[in-house]
Amino acid sequence: MTDTAQLHYNGQTIDLPVVVGTQKETAVDISKLRAESGLITLDNGYGNTGSCSSAITFVNGEKGILKYRGYRIEVLATKSTFVETAYLLIFGEMPTSSQYTEFRRQLVQHEFIHEDMRHHLDGFPPNAPPMAILSAMINAVGCFEPVFMQPEDDEHFMKPAARLMSKIRTIAAASYRKSLGKPIVYPRSRLRYVENFLHMMFSSPYEPYEAPEAVVEALDRLLILHADHEQNCSTSTVRMVASSQANLYASVAAGVCALWGPLHGGANVAVIDMLQGLVDSGEKLDRFIARVKNRDAGARLMGFGHRVYKNFDPRATIIKESCHRLLEKIGVDDPLLDLAMKLEEVALKDPYFVERKLYPNVDYYSGIIMRALGIPTDMFTVIFAIGRLPGWIAHWREVHTNTNARIDRPRQIYIGDTVREYVPLEERG
Ligand code: CMC
Repeated sequence: MTDTAQLHYNGQTIDLPVVVGTQKETAVDISKLRAESGLITLDNGYGNTGSCSSAITFVNGEKGILKYRGYRIEVLATKSTFVETAYLLIFGEMPTSSQYTEFRRQLVQHEFIHEDMRHHLDGFPPNAPPMAILSAMINAVGCFEPVFMQPEDDEHFMKPAARLMSKIRTIAAASYRKSLGKPIVYPRSRLRYVENFLHMMFSSPYEPYEAPEAVVEALDRLLILHADHEQNCSTSTVRMVASSQANLYASVAAGVCALWGPLHGGANVAVIDMLQGLVDSGEKLDRFIARVKNRDAGARLMGFGHRVYKNFDPRATIIKESCHRLLEKIGVDDPLLDLAMKLEEVALKDPYFVERKLYPNVDYYSGIIMRALGIPTDMFTVIFAIGRLPGWIAHWREVHTNTNARIDRPRQIYIGDTVREYVPLEERG
């Protein structure tokens, strides 16, 4: 294979270096294109733009492959834990037993939020969206904790990484309790990561909640499946903010906001709203699918489609199986699961979805799992954020340790007015 591509433009031939990744994906390096030809590239929604080189996560959308640091998602989902996977993503290697013990010790050490942060929390109205609270509170952590960190040094970086991973869970549970007008439940050190979160969500001062093992397992697996997904919208946001050398908390707070939208992490809420809407209205599935195809009032089949996966989303396959297992184990019969499966069946036979290669994504069944765990719908995207945090931390670190890093600053093709004359206000009518 040649290691340059040639572009012929305006009687000029421009040689562009070709870059090949470890999994053989190939890119044309256009960084010198403008200097040599005056051209920039235009790629709406960055669908064909590699924004960086990264050693964290690999996705092959045609074959449905997802790997974190070289480990297949199917293996991690069945053999690892969320905390171990988080360590792998952030530090690049599976932890030794002493590293694992130390990471877990630090997760326990940082589980409380500063008492003054509780006053900050009290300032939000009871109906404030939990994703707004989460973003604001994560940014606030940076005001209460030293922002100085040494990202290149594993030992030093473990502290801010563990601090944020531990506190996000406390903040998330506290915002939920607050929305119900219930007292905040303090973390309990002897509990594992997910158990502790469930305890803070569902215990009351007079009755501790003890999560069944099937529930802990299902949520742990769900978090593993969400832990990273290379250059998605929120991770690219974290990286872009980080590229200005902003601190970890500010960068991650921006990532939470990006995740919130219904085309990204907010899709898990939109799926349940869509299914519940179908139940409430009694609308026939064929009619609904026809509305989606006609784009009536912007109707979409939420939880379907993906920018990268054009065959199947391996996370959705694992989640669907996990969902059935959980519901059976804990004896929950959710009519929305039956409806979701029927809708999937109808869509997968329809040429509209087949031709466009639209399949269920990670968000299609995850909401049904969370409902079964007793998690309210407006907390679904918060759970996604807890899961995605190790990925955001790993990407922030990769940006801050890259000695060739530059600030992210895309260009544009300007299509506005050229020159306009200023007319004084009193003459404008
Ligand atoms: N329902 C109906 N039509 C769809 C859907 C859908 N869910 N997704 C894509 N299409 C159509 C789209 O209208 C377009 O049709 P045409 O070529 O005729 O104009 C074609 O399929 C290609 O879609 P696109 O909008 O160009 O795809 P994209 O890569 O820009 O968007 C997506 C990807 C995930 C935003 C989109 O598929 C979508 O809106 N899905 C529903 C929301 C969702 O489930 N989001 C979660 C994504 S996975 C987890 C995450 O990122 O958080």
